[in-house]
Amino acid sequence: MISMIWAMDENWLIGKDNLLPWHYKEDLIYFKNIVNQKIVLMGEQTYLSLKSYYKKKPLPYKKIYVCNLEDKTYDDAILVQDIHQFLKQNEEEIFVIGGKTIYQLALPYADQLYITYVLNRHEGNIYFPKFDLSNYKLAKKEVIPSLIFALYERVSS
Ligand SMILES: NC(=O)c1ccc[n+]([C@@H]2O[C@H](COP(=O)([O-])OP(=O)(O)OC[C@H]3O[C@@H](n4cnc5c(N)ncnc54)[C@H](OP(=O)(O)O)[C@@H]3O)[C@@H](O)[C@H]2O)c1
Repeated sequence: MISMIWAMDENWLIGKDNLLPWHYKEDLIYFKNIVNQKIVLMGEQTYLSLKSYYKKKPLPYKKIYVCNLEDKTYDDAILVQDIHQFLKQNEEEIFVIGGKTIYQLALPYADQLYITYVLNRHEGNIYFPKFDLSNYKLAKKEVIPSLIFALYERVSS
C-alpha cells in the first residue's frame, strides 16, 4: 500500500525555498498522527528540510527511505536511487511525504492520497504538479477553520 500526504494552498503551493510556506498547528498534528512511527519515503530536499526542523532530535519514523540520484549514505535512512523500481517492487505500507519531485514520480503508484487543502493563498515557489483526481474517490473529509483534511482512495489505474 502506497499513500501520499501533503498540504497545498488554493494555488497548489506546497513549499517556500526548502520549507513549508505556512504554520498551521492543526495540520502538523494531523500529519504527525498519520505518519509518525510509519515507514516513509521522501526526497533528499525534504529530508534536509525535516532535519532542519528536528535539529538534533531523531526523525520519528519506523523506517526512512530517501530518494537521491547521487550515491550517498545516511546514518538514519536507506538510499533509493530508482524510485520507480522501488515502488513497483514495494510490499510495505509506505507513506510518501514529499517533496514536489517525489510526489510527481510516486503519484502513479499511490493507492491513497491524504490532501490537506489550505484555504488561503501563501507566498512561495514550489507547487504540487497539477493532476486529475478522477481515478480517486473521496473517502473522508473533515473541515476546520482554514483547512480541509481529505482522504482519497484509488478506484482505477
Ligand atoms: N506542503 C507539503 O505538504 C510538503 C511536503 C513535503 C515537502 N514540501 C516542500 O517540497 C519542497 C521540496 O521538493 P523538491 O522537489 O525540491 O525535492 P524532493 O522531492 O524532496 O527531493 C528531490 C530528490 O529526488 C531525487 N530524485 C529525482 N529523481 C529520482 C529518481 N528517479 N529516483 C530517485 N531519486 C530521484 C533528486 O536527486 P538529484 O538531486 O540527484 O536530482 C533529489 O535529491 C520543499 O519546499 C518542501 O518544503 C512540501
